[in-house]
Amino acid sequence: MCGIVGYIGYRNVVDVIFRGLTNLEYRGYDSAGIALRDEGKIKIFKSLGKLGNLKEELINHKSNLVNPIAGIGHIRWATHGSPSLVNAHPHTCTCGKLTVVHNGIIENYKVLREELIKKGCEFRSQTDTETIAHLVANEYSNTKDLELAIRNAVQKLQGAYAICVMHKDVPDVIIGARKHAPMLVGVGENENFIASDTPAIIEYTKKAIYLDDNEIAIVTKDSIKITDINGNTINKKVEILPWEPVALSKLGYKHFMLKEIHEQPDIIRNILNGKIYDIDSPVVLNEVKIDIETLKKLNKIQIIACGTSLHAAMIGKYLIEDFAGIAVDVEPSSEYIYRKTTTDASTLVIGVSQSGETADTITAIKQAKEKGSHILIITNRPDSNMARMANSLIPVNAGIEVSVAATKSYTAQLISFYLLALHLAEIKGAMDKNVIKNIKHELIQLPIKIEEILSNTSTIQECAKNFSSFKNFIYIARGINLATAFEGALKLKEISYINATGYAAGELKHGPIAMLDETMPVLSILVPGGITYEKILSNSEEAKARNAKLIALTSSSDPNIDKLFDVVIRIPHVSEILSPAICCVPLQLLAYYIAEFLGKDVDQPRNLAKSVTVE
Ligand code: AGP
Repeated sequence: MCGIVGYIGYRNVVDVIFRGLTNLEYRGYDSAGIALRDEGKIKIFKSLGKLGNLKEELINHKSNLVNPIAGIGHIRWATHGSPSLVNAHPHTCTCGKLTVVHNGIIENYKVLREELIKKGCEFRSQTDTETIAHLVANEYSNTKDLELAIRNAVQKLQGAYAICVMHKDVPDVIIGARKHAPMLVGVGENENFIASDTPAIIEYTKKAIYLDDNEIAIVTKDSIKITDINGNTINKKVEILPWEPVALSKLGYKHFMLKEIHEQPDIIRNILNGKIYDIDSPVVLNEVKIDIETLKKLNKIQIIACGTSLHAAMIGKYLIEDFAGIAVDVEPSSEYIYRKTTTDASTLVIGVSQSGETADTITAIKQAKEKGSHILIITNRPDSNMARMANSLIPVNAGIEVSVAATKSYTAQLISFYLLALHLAEIKGAMDKNVIKNIKHELIQLPIKIEEILSNTSTIQECAKNFSSFKNFIYIARGINLATAFEGALKLKEISYINATGYAAGELKHGPIAMLDETMPVLSILVPGGITYEKILSNSEEAKARNAKLIALTSSSDPNIDKLFDVVIRIPHVSEILSPAICCVPLQLLAYYIAEFLGKDVDQPRNLAKSVTVE
């Protein structure tokens, strides 16, 4: 949730670290800081709030800087200690010679802190990170070897860390280390980088080395050495980063979220390309590395995910059960971790995650892995931790998603689930061939239909304007679109801070109906021809009878709909089974335009981070 950038090389150090931190900004943060090696000294600058404040701080103290040759920067999302200057990174040891930035949480920091205080260390902040600075400095005073000191120190840490360290007395080197938190080394010429995520470096290099747990990177401007925790050198593969710098540009859109919503048709085309050659041929999903005989016998799947990915997983369950007849459990990762599950070696466990770094899901996947399950990961980040844990990996190929609110990655996850469910159905012979053909045909048509929605958003914009003053919303749906209602409500909550809740329409009368009056709009998702269409219509009438304002999301041309509902958001028709992949788009747009109308920080909503790397 925090971001790290370290740089050593010939470019302007401040600029490189700033660009890097700016490209990590979307992950969310509350303070920022930078430590620079300049004139043989370590100079530190910190600020609260946005990166612009740190820039100002540096401009104000420009005269203090001569020619920095290396530096480490950080954006912080507070976990231990409130957002404040003193708690912002980088942190230093008592004498100020050693400085560190850190992502993750040190679980045993209180014990270590007590021990270090007894040894004379002076603590200034409330953070767990400061413990690392004192611990490494303490080891360094014994060993006079920074690399060894870091190796010794990290062995005493419990929890998660990605750290980047500089020491005044050890010139020309920055050192990174990681455990349970991502870190990579960007490989350049006469320059090298350390970062917590790819966007921090893609403007400068496309080559990177991904550190694994318990590895340490000793980085100078013209050398990179990776060792294990015992100091043994490891030969790591230099990988080519899958991203282009243009992914970090808004391309004329006001917000990344709007740009990413508009990217969805092309993303679907790209995913389908190479997976469905024609509607008569089977889906090609070579990413699933389970032999056919095992797949044929497969009768239990568990899907674990969080947030938006959890909603995609709920739809995935519906599809796999419907198409392939395999029983599927879906559970939030944070719940899965803390109960006795029935996961075993015969269970296929699917982890779904945009970022591939969500701590709850990573822990859940680890547990499932220990039980011998085959792990299939569906992620937008084939370079992530989760991807590395996979036995089978389905990259959703949505391209880098900058807006904190997930949109295009969600649609891409859904499309991946359609392909997986069809693949399983074809292998098991569980579905009528003509039905499969129709679904494939509809899948191929999806981009055009979404383009139709995106080409005229006036009703959605008008609706957003007229409903933006409401403080509460209810979204109702049934069957496969229940998760669509959850996701639509989540989008609205995340970026507009309006209280929105998704309910199974049939559940309304069992309690939530008590809340209905003219202050509580109800949005109904109605797919004509769907098995629950009439029922949702009745549930909407029940809401109308309690004076709730009604919004319909539907492809129905029935004039009675226009009479019943205050607003009708019309979308092109698709069958009920395909409808989640199209209904999500107007709901994303509605949330976007409401938040935009209210003047909210759409791409970086308060309190949220793009990837949640703490449990
Ligand atoms: C999505 O809009 C949210 N920001 C959030 O719910 C997110 O989906 C969740 O934190 C899971 O993230 P992941 O997909 O990267 O694992």
